[in-house]
Amino acid sequence: MLDFMSRDAAICAKREGRVVGALLFSREPAVLCFLAVDDACRRQHIGERMVACMRTFLDPAKEVTVTTYREGVPEGVAARAFYKRLGFAEGRLTEEFGSPVQEFIWKP
Ligand SMILES: CC(C)(COP(=O)(O)OP(=O)(O)OC[C@H]1O[C@@H](n2cnc3c(N)ncnc32)[C@H](O)[C@@H]1OP(=O)(O)O)[C@@H](O)C(=O)NCCC(=O)NCCS
Repeated sequence: MLDFMSRDAAICAKREGRVVGALLFSREPAVLCFLAVDDACRRQHIGERMVACMRTFLDPAKEVTVTTYREGVPEGVAARAFYKRLGFAEGRLTEEFGSPVQEFIWKP
């Protein structure tokens, strides 16, 4: 987190002084590296607003990728629906830290 903050690549959502969401990204290539919203605050468009904020730091002409859970994993239902809603399309099936995952890609 500190590493991303030092590169101006960390976004947090705060409510009444409490952090309720965080997003980490990289610019080159444009990758959404981490995203989570406090489970008590989900479905209030906090994740969507953090992604919109991230976009203001990225080249709008370049694609953005994110790696998330594969289909069929219960923990991944929200994330997969969320990325699809935001216009990301399903990409390659890969592995990350030894776990099966899937890339999602947003194209301009
Ligand atoms: C994925 C996550 C970040 C979404 O954050 P959020 O603030 O709840 O999402 P938003 O309120 O901005 O959702 C925007 C839209 O995405 C879709 N969506 C989000 N969560 C959904 C869910 N659980 N089921 C179906 N659609 C969902 C909806 O279309 C939603 O709009 P709507 O509520 O008006 O229908 C959040 O669920 C989370 O932190 N999950 C655990 C961590 C995780 O999976 N992170 C991503 C790993 S890469």
